[in-house]
Amino acid sequence: MVNEATLEINQAATLPELQEIRVKYLGKKGLLTAELKTLANLTPDEKRIKGAALNILKNELETLFDAREAGLKDAALTARLSSEALDVTLPGTRFQTGGFHLLTRIIDDLATIYKALGYQVVQGQEVETELYNFDALNIPSWHPARDLWDTFWLTDGRLLRTHTSPMQARFMQAFAPPFKIVVPGKTYRFEAVDATHESMFHQLEGLAVSDDITMSDLKGTLEEMAKGLFGERTKIRFQPSYYPFTEPSADFAVYWENPRTGTSKWLELGGSGMVHPRVFEEVCKLRGDTVYAGKRGFAFGLGIERVAMIKYGVPDIRYFFQNDLRVLQQFRGELE
Ligand code: PHE
Repeated sequence: MVNEATLEINQAATLPELQEIRVKYLGKKGLLTAELKTLANLTPDEKRIKGAALNILKNELETLFDAREAGLKDAALTARLSSEALDVTLPGTRFQTGGFHLLTRIIDDLATIYKALGYQVVQGQEVETELYNFDALNIPSWHPARDLWDTFWLTDGRLLRTHTSPMQARFMQAFAPPFKIVVPGKTYRFEAVDATHESMFHQLEGLAVSDDITMSDLKGTLEEMAKGLFGERTKIRFQPSYYPFTEPSADFAVYWENPRTGTSKWLELGGSGMVHPRVFEEVCKLRGDTVYAGKRGFAFGLGIERVAMIKYGVPDIRYFFQNDLRVLQQFRGELE
């Protein structure tokens, strides 16, 4: 019986199978149990001898069962562990992440530069009235300069602002000097679209007003901006210009050394000048007081797309707004 049982125990492949064999030998109606029951009919001497032998057998079988059970449990665990194993060295799934648009990034860079110079960043509204877009900026309706800023009109007489300059008048109407602000935002022009003109684009307006601001403050400020945008070696140049709301007026250009091509040239960035006394007068009228009488200030405005096109060699302004990820993703690496 021992040999037979040993063989069966070792051949049991699963725990339930092993349990069946255990019942077959050691269960209430098991083979060994039956043998033990026959002891009752024997003489005391026979009983002692056979009983001892059967007990040894029983212990032996129990040891075998326990060992096999432990072995099977072990094997099951090993199998389960290897089937559930996770290879942490496998490459993971890369999720698509968003990024900031190049223009957003340049607006952020400009805001950082100007905040370091003590400026507040404020925003205006894209739908404007004629009063703020033109009249308060010394551009009355008969003025030929209105032709410079042809725009989209709403049916109620309002318009899409042609520049960020309306915020000059709005800010001065609401706040007293001295102050320094920059105003980034969207602007609109009724224009034939081509590689350098879009009907919607972005500007950054600057306005600083106090008692004694001069044109050299303006130039120094623009130079700081240019260095922040294009590097320490950048220079800035003024050229005489005309804007109804500044006098004198100057367009400014930056000297840009292109690291990709090694070439340098002057590139027009925007317009600027000293705030025209008539603008202060208009603002005083709007406010109903005289806090802007006799003040001095400078103002400037530049095109954000132009900065991006120069700095990153984007050849066509339309690329910014076509949502072509092949274009936009090129500039994403620099965002993080
Ligand atoms: N608003 C002008 C434009 O859009 C730029 C400008 C701003 C010029 C401030 C002078 C002062 O062309």
